[in-house]
Amino acid sequence: MNTNRLSSKMEKVLNDQMTKEAHAAQIYLSYAAWADGEGYSGIANFLFRHAHEERNHMMKILQYILERGGKVMVEAIPAPGSTPNSVQNCFEKVFEQEVDNTEAIYRIVNLSMEEKDWATWNFMQWFVKEQVEEETLALNLLDKIKIAGGEGAKADALYTLDKDLETAPDDAKLAQEATEEKPL
Ligand SMILES: [Fe+2]
Ligand SMILES: [Fe+2]
Repeated sequence: MNTNRLSSKMEKVLNDQMTKEAHAAQIYLSYAAWADGEGYSGIANFLFRHAHEERNHMMKILQYILERGGKVMVEAIPAPGSTPNSVQNCFEKVFEQEVDNTEAIYRIVNLSMEEKDWATWNFMQWFVKEQVEEETLALNLLDKIKIAGGEGAKADALYTLDKDLETAPDDAKLAQEATEEKPL
């Protein structure tokens, strides 16, 4: 009797996504270590916390595969790639990384629709929403560095930005939560 409720194709892409989330965690770890090395302990703190979030994403997918009777394949995590060369570059890389991950999530949603695998479709909606948050968070970072002066940001502006990120919330507020009285 087949108790695997995932198609073999779906099982494969979910396992790949698990590795991708672990990869994202490694990327954030490497950027955080870079930031700390440059003296930006606030930015590092923010990125370390984010690395942890990505590991949580990995765990959610791992549990989902098991829950559906699928087989979890823990694979090697690719190297995180090059480290940033400036704060501006770091935040650009964060944004690109999140968009790339969103696209991978959308491909899984597409497959779930094709297969009429509504359980996976439903599960993946959490990630769709999460990616809106993550992209918003990344865009907020780009706004902050732009206001600080971009590539030409002076030390005092970077100091303030670094302090700001030390205590910045991990989640961005979404449009769904906006009202006229509280426009986020
Ligand atoms: Fe993630
Ligand atoms: Fe992310």
